[in-house]
Amino acid sequence: MLLPNAENAKSNSKPCVEACFYGFGSLKGMTVLLTGGAGYIGSHVTRLLQNRGEKVVVVDDLSEGIRSRIGDAELVQVDLSSKEAVSLLCETFKTHKVTSVVHLAARKKVGESVERPEWYEEQNVGGMKNLLAAMKLSGVNRLVFSSSAATYGVPDVDQVDEDFDCKPINPYGQTKLDGEHLAQAAAKDWGLREVSLRYFNVAGTGWPELMDTQAANLVPIVFQSLAKNVSPRVFGNDFPTEDGTCVRDYVHVLDLAEAHLAAIDYLDRDERPYDVFNVGTGVGSSVLDVIREISSVSGTEIVPVIEPRRPGDPASLNANVNRIKKVFGWSAKHDLHDIISSVWKAQSL
Ligand SMILES: NC(=O)c1ccc[n+]([C@@H]2O[C@H](COP(=O)([O-])OP(=O)(O)OC[C@H]3O[C@@H](n4cnc5c(N)ncnc54)[C@H](O)[C@@H]3O)[C@@H](O)[C@H]2O)c1
Repeated sequence: MLLPNAENAKSNSKPCVEACFYGFGSLKGMTVLLTGGAGYIGSHVTRLLQNRGEKVVVVDDLSEGIRSRIGDAELVQVDLSSKEAVSLLCETFKTHKVTSVVHLAARKKVGESVERPEWYEEQNVGGMKNLLAAMKLSGVNRLVFSSSAATYGVPDVDQVDEDFDCKPINPYGQTKLDGEHLAQAAAKDWGLREVSLRYFNVAGTGWPELMDTQAANLVPIVFQSLAKNVSPRVFGNDFPTEDGTCVRDYVHVLDLAEAHLAAIDYLDRDERPYDVFNVGTGVGSSVLDVIREISSVSGTEIVPVIEPRRPGDPASLNANVNRIKKVFGWSAKHDLHDIISSVWKAQSL
């Protein structure tokens, strides 16, 4: 099986899903600054904004990001949590006449956050503080923030809505909740207008060269097992779900990227200081559903190894998506089959 080779990737190659949805309006010549724009999700948002004719500037330290993912977008390479970040951001805002920011840059590995909580705090919360300081100094007041369903912790409901009391169970989820709180404080303090998007389980790819290269989530992990011809591990098959394995809400990265464009447009027309939106499909798939779908799409039988539950895994975590549907007019267009097919197609090229 071929794995993606970013060096050889063609910019803006053929998309992996046919039904791309470009339903949202144009920003009319504004510049959007994306932190983490060279990452997996950020590069999809970058690509959609570029395709819509917007000017994009990317800020990324390239620790996980890949330069070739952002095409001809300007790159400012800096660690957002570093001392020089605020002045460099201020300079970039001014030079490029930035009007809106999408803040995706963060460390995102839950296990790593448990091992290195201070570093996660420094990177994710420190980076957010520097970004907000630079935005305040520069008078840039529109922000879309990448939050996460990890803020909810272990909710005891089938579908969690945005008003649910957040109780993160790991340092990563806590840094995302802290980020939301910092943005809300800035909204009250100096007039920031902010949207937090709480992503559920992001997977799939819009273009082969933008594929997720980190095996941190179930879909890439199972594909990696397939490539290595080893059995994927399933943690627990005795959860109170239909087949006993954990159920999650998988959202196609292209749908998620569209939600960012909708959020930017919303900030353009709505006066509310801040708001929080779930980004998911509202439909849950179990671990075994995902493995079965990968088996079916790849035409390879995959037999998982069942291991004991991991501490802190909620049985089921699915999004209530009523708010984003009502306010943005956004809903996911792609299902689990589309997600898996897009990765399979990208890997088979
Ligand atoms: N992938 C998911 O399923 C998922 C789910 C919920 C939330 N999120 C959030 O979405 C965002 C993007 O995630 P992704 O999956 O694209 O991850 P990614 O690692 O592919 O992208 C993150 C990007 O940010 C950059 N970066 C990280 N820390 C930085 C720093 N201190 N300074 C400058 N650049 C930095 C990395 O180089 C990388 O390009 C993250 O904030 C993550 O927490 C992701």
